[in-house]
Amino acid sequence: MHTFHRLDDLRQYRQNVARVAFVPTMGNLHAGHLALMRAAREHADTVIASVFVNRLQFGPGEDFERYPRTLRADSEKLADAGVDALFAPDEGELYPEPQTCFVEPPDLQHLLEGEFRPGHFRGVATVVLKLFNCVQPQAAIFGKKDYQQWMLIRLMTRQLALPIEIVGMETVRAPDGLALSSRNAYLSPVERAEAPRLYQTLRELKEAVLREGVEHSAALQQEARQNLDKHGWETDYLAVRQQSDLQAPSFATQQLVIVAAARLGATRLIDNLEIG
Ligand code: PAF
Repeated sequence: MHTFHRLDDLRQYRQNVARVAFVPTMGNLHAGHLALMRAAREHADTVIASVFVNRLQFGPGEDFERYPRTLRADSEKLADAGVDALFAPDEGELYPEPQTCFVEPPDLQHLLEGEFRPGHFRGVATVVLKLFNCVQPQAAIFGKKDYQQWMLIRLMTRQLALPIEIVGMETVRAPDGLALSSRNAYLSPVERAEAPRLYQTLRELKEAVLREGVEHSAALQQEARQNLDKHGWETDYLAVRQQSDLQAPSFATQQLVIVAAARLGATRLIDNLEIG
């Protein structure tokens, strides 16, 4: 596997390969990321991954400083997974001057995650566009665990006419249902044992909505939230929304998604579950 820390070197390599599938990451790779790498292989002969912890998408008081940086181990995993090239710039390479140009996503950025992490999606969209410009892929693969991020990247790509196919991959889970996430590493053993309740709650809520009807979703989501709170979670949001725009559902809506973010101790976990 080729490893590039400098953009010029990546660009030189890029000139000599035709179709590229790209997987942007912040590192600390787990089986979920490796599934994205395998999916990428189905979209191009050359797979490029990036590892970059993007300061722009972290708010004050969030975990930018302590976010696990494990480049050596990540590099081995990517090589084992058959990735062709890794782009791992340092901050000075990707942001050689203070970033004053941003991608400003539409109002969808202020809902749900955006309400609790103001500016997060602006930082994500800005770095993703920048990475797209560095790597110039024909396809890019994103995990649907970050559902709102996946929606906003698709929207940005479409509205800015980027010639890139955005592929969404289903969430990879531990056998007990917990969605794989780099932040799971922050959980204590006791918290790790409790953590699967988030997905379990989403599954129960999905069944309740299917049984009782979407018109009861507000009351049902309230009950689900109380169930989490009872077990020591602090829930930022747990909501039944329309897949199309993440707004509250109209009665006729068939395509729904339950999205949730909740804290267990100091660790904030997110998850989602589609209905229909
Ligand atoms: O999903 C992530 O890991 C990050 O938000 C991304 C897309 C790599 C941008 O920093």
